[in-house]
Amino acid sequence: MPAKVLESNTSKAKALWAERQAVVSAGSAAYSSVIIAKAKNATVWDVDGKEYIDFAGGIGAINVGHCHPKVVSAIKEQAERLLHTSFHVAAYEPHIKLCRKLAGAVPGGFEKKALLFNSGSEAIENAVKFARAYTKRRAVVSFDNAFHGRTLLCLTLNSKYKPLKQHFGPYASDICHARFPNPYRPPRGVRPEDVADYALEELDRLFINEVAPEDVAAIIVEPVQGEGGFVVPPKGFLGALKKVCESHGILFIADEVQTGFGRTAKMFAIEHEGVAPDLLVTAKSLGAGMPLSAVVGRAEIMDAAPAGSVGGTYGGNPVSCAAALAVFDIFKEENILQAAEKVGEAVKSRFDRWAREIAIVGDSRGLGAMRAVELVADKKTRKPLPVATVKAIVKSCEEKGLIVLKAGAYDNVLRTLMPLTIGKSELEKGLGIMEDVLSSTRP
Ligand SMILES: Cc1ncc(COP(=O)(O)O)c(C=O)c1O
Repeated sequence: MPAKVLESNTSKAKALWAERQAVVSAGSAAYSSVIIAKAKNATVWDVDGKEYIDFAGGIGAINVGHCHPKVVSAIKEQAERLLHTSFHVAAYEPHIKLCRKLAGAVPGGFEKKALLFNSGSEAIENAVKFARAYTKRRAVVSFDNAFHGRTLLCLTLNSKYKPLKQHFGPYASDICHARFPNPYRPPRGVRPEDVADYALEELDRLFINEVAPEDVAAIIVEPVQGEGGFVVPPKGFLGALKKVCESHGILFIADEVQTGFGRTAKMFAIEHEGVAPDLLVTAKSLGAGMPLSAVVGRAEIMDAAPAGSVGGTYGGNPVSCAAALAVFDIFKEENILQAAEKVGEAVKSRFDRWAREIAIVGDSRGLGAMRAVELVADKKTRKPLPVATVKAIVKSCEEKGLIVLKAGAYDNVLRTLMPLTIGKSELEKGLGIMEDVLSSTRP
């Protein structure tokens, strides 16, 4: 079905966009020029009433849909009762209840504890603190093409230099980057089916050349790389990595900030591999739009930080916790994991066909509803489509009423992070817009 071409931004949005440019730091990312007024499930409306289908879901934070009635009423109820004390000053039930829920939801048949924070980055920082306190080791290994956030330690763990790191150094010390296996872009001479073995061999080399394994506190990994372009490692890689960790007493930290809460059709992506991480970091869709994150892991590791050494003023505030408890209920009542599977299947069948039929679609990949297409100028050489062309594609989708995000080392990947509760016709309409734009774009 051809997508209906909507009007471009009208007066109020234009005026607010100009005001944004006048008063908001130019360093703040702007993935679209939409100025939003309200949202419901997978639909958002701008300040002029223009309607958009949302394939971005607040960068993966809205898996249960925008303004889910249960979330909204939990927030309202909690806001009327208690907004803030700081959990460290006076504890409250929603926070304690949520830690119990998280400990039960995260994989691993061992005793677990949790601590709540505000953002994904903050939780990553604290996961590293727990790992260092427990192991009494300094070094942390992350991966190339990784993204873990925007604080200084997270920047150091990241690997994309521009625009994330340039001019922001000096960085934190004792961080090393290992190779992440990317079957679509294997190193020269390495077969796609061998990228996992290659990455593990390179890790052995890193342990000789860069840091001794007995000095490594943790290896931190996204089970599917998010900002890096939805790169899914070959089956078995994460299990092999866990074994490497165990053999050296290194902790395995799973960064599930983007992959978690049903995005891959399991509560956490690591479950696809049957791996129980020592620590798991979650955020985004945990709070359904409220700022909330958590580190969850082995009780003895979570207890290794000295009393009073971790936390913060707002972490796990009552209103965010109430929203997250509602999210857990919604997952059960609406079978969100099954919904994710269905959304994933519908998107996959379209994306796979595009990879066969559309000249600029080089790869279709993903796990569950975490799916992406990688755009190329040449399918044979896999030369990335120029960023300017990708930006034009995103803009064109926006003009036709679809918000979609790019990602990847070359900014040439389009990814899907729509609410998992999206209706079938809205999903098909959004995919139709993408298909129209992609098939009419020349390399
Ligand atoms: C995998 C991953 N880790 C960490 C973060 C940082 O989360 P936040 O933006 O909430 O600080 C992100 C954000 O996109 C992410 O995708």
